[in-house]
Amino acid sequence: MKNHIEVMISEEKVEQRVCELANQINEDYVGRELHLIIILKGSVFFACELAKRLTVPVTMDFMSASSYGNGMVSAGKITVRKELDEDIAGKEVLIVEDIVDSGNTLFYLKKLLMARSPESLKIVTLLDKPTCRTTEIKIDYCGFEIPDKFVVGYGLDYAQHYRNLPYIGVVIQD
Ligand code: IMP
Ligand code: MG
Repeated sequence: MKNHIEVMISEEKVEQRVCELANQINEDYVGRELHLIIILKGSVFFACELAKRLTVPVTMDFMSASSYGNGMVSAGKITVRKELDEDIAGKEVLIVEDIVDSGNTLFYLKKLLMARSPESLKIVTLLDKPTCRTTEIKIDYCGFEIPDKFVVGYGLDYAQHYRNLPYIGVVIQD
């Protein structure tokens, strides 16, 4: 591919922030059990690093939703590609997302999951691009607010590439 990557957030900074988020979640959920819903595929790296640092009892399930094809612009329409394996009724649910852009994906998923009667439903995202928001969505825990740039790494992809980078980088077209 004819492009290169510039580091936006270093591996060390991401790790430190993930620890801070985990500490905050541990405090907020003390004495409770947490059911993580990890949105495939981009959130997997973040979810693993976060989950390892959670001290409350944790269960996990995975869901896949997509609004992007292989490009950098949202196609707008959300489709569920993989459903949850387990029922979430009565559970303290925390959706783990990699990045919130327009807000469409989470708006749709939150509505879908709220209809299944969880005890509570909150959202944690590693990255947020608040200037890109077209749909209002409350984010309970956010790692970093970033400018309107297409980022990769730490699970995030560009046409399925770069997910394995240990830092958050910006795709620069050559
Ligand atoms: P939204 O529905 O517009 O909020 O988009 C959310 C989803 O789009 C994220 O879960 C990502 O999968 C993808 N996405 C949005 N911005 C980026 C980016 O900068 N890099 C990689 N994926 C992105
Ligand atoms: Mg995603």
